[in-house]
Order: sequence, then structure tokens, then C-alpha cells
Amino acid sequence: KRLILIGPPGSGKGTQSPLIKDEYCLCHLATGDMLRAAVAAKTPLGIKAKETMEKGELVSDDLVVGIIDEAIKKPSCQKGFILDGFPRTVAQAEKLDEMLGKQGTKIDKVLNFAIDDAILEERITGRWIHPPSGRTYHTKFAPPKTPGLDDVTGEPLIQRKDDTAEVLKSRLEAFHRQTAPVIDYYSKKGNVAQLHAEKPPKEVTAEVQKALA
Ligand code: AP5
Ligand code: ZN
Repeated sequence: KRLILIGPPGSGKGTQSPLIKDEYCLCHLATGDMLRAAVAAKTPLGIKAKETMEKGELVSDDLVVGIIDEAIKKPSCQKGFILDGFPRTVAQAEKLDEMLGKQGTKIDKVLNFAIDDAILEERITGRWIHPPSGRTYHTKFAPPKTPGLDDVTGEPLIQRKDDTAEVLKSRLEAFHRQTAPVIDYYSKKGNVAQLHAEKPPKEVTAEVQKALA
């Protein structure tokens, strides 16, 4: 399967991705995670993206399209993939269609993590992550066994630099202005499944499974 996960910051894309990935053996391509890794490694790409990400704005289409173009050609992604956080503009969606057209494939399903903005600040400001594995915790909704430490490795958890109430405002604005039209773009093709992303994680997982059955 070739899937797209669309939703505002904190809607649960990164939380549901590992579960979908394991069940369907897909590769998980999260442009945000890839960009954060590039920033941490101070690669030319990371140096270009850092400031924009810290402001909560979208990096240029060319940068992310380049990353995805390279990733979906990998042998490990031939069986299918989950795109988490891409495409985020209509221009990115059009480029993606073009790339897939060349491969003779297409997107099977777009999962829309629909949720009210009001819930997101608490989710974002309480999030702690373990960057090497991508595991995500929440001080209230999904606390680690030991505060501040990853359950599996015992390594320290960190908070994302853009996970402040202030930066969230810009991220939400970018979502409504630039990414919401992507949902309309795919709705016209008729392959969007609506999720109730405000429900508890397990219920969202059940909705995902139903949408993909
Ligand atoms: P990105 O990393 O994609 O961030 P985002 O879209 O803002 O999404 P988040 O990762 O914040 O939310 P999520 O839905 O994954 O939430 P999670 O599951 O962790 O992008 C970051 C930046 O990179 C962008 O701002 C941009 O600059 C750049 N970028 C990336 N892609 C780009 C692109 N294509 N084009 C241009 N620029 C791009 O959940 C959040 C918290 O809530 C967690 O603590 C979790 O435990 C908790 N939680 C999850 N589900 C539930 C639930 N059901 N109930 C209660 N709590 C829950
Ligand atoms: Zn995420």
C-alpha cells in the first residue's frame, strides 16, 4: 500500500505510523523526522532548513520533494510506504503524482487526521520524543515508565524546538493555509478516509485499520 497521512501538528500522525508500518511492512517516510536528522547532522540540507523549521513555517517544496524522490526509489520502499507530513502543499502533491506516474504506481489511500485546533496545544507542549527510534511520549496521555527516559533503551527523551505554544500558532496557520487544500486535492480523486483524531490512540488505530481493510 502507498499511504499519505495528513493532519495538523499533534494530530497523531507520528503516533499511528509505527503501528501501520508494522502491520503492513511499509516504509515510514516522515519529512519532519528526516529534516530534523539533517539539522542535527548539520548537512547542507539541514543548514538550509533549520531556521524555517524553528519558526514553524514550511521549508521550500524543492527541498522536501528532493528527499521524497530519493526515498521512494529505494528497494525497501517498493512494497509500499507511509508518507507522514508530505505532501503539505498542492505543488508537492502534483510533484508526487508525477514521480509515482513514472513508476507506474499511485497513492492508494489518504488518511485525514481531522481534529479541532483547540486540543492541539496540550498535545504539542506535553510531547517528549526519543529521536533515534522516533518513539513519542506525552507527559499526560502516554507517559514513559521513567519520566524523561525512553522505555526501551533508557536513553533521554527530548522536546522539539518547535513544540512551544508560540511556534504552534505559525504551524497551524501554515497547515490551514497551505496543507488543507491538499485534502481537497485528494478528495476530488475520491481516496480520502476521515479519522476522528481527537479520540484516544487505540480508537484512532481501529479507525485506521478499518480504513485500510
Ligand atoms: P513535522 O515533523 O511533520 O511536524 P507536524 O506536521 O507539525 O506534526 P507533528 O509531528 O507535530 O504531529 P504528529 O501528528 O506527528 O503528532 P504525534 O503523533 O507526535 O514537521 C515539522 C516541520 O518540518 C514543519 O513545520 C516544516 O518546517 C518542516 N516540514 C516537514 N515536512 C514538510 C513538507 N512536506 N514541506 C515543507 N516543510 C516540511 O502526537 C503529538 C502528541 O500527542 C504526542 O505526545 C502523542 O503522544 C500525543 N498523542 C497522539 N495521539 C494522541 C491521541 N489520540 N490522544 C491523546 N494524545 C495523543
Ligand atoms: Zn510527527
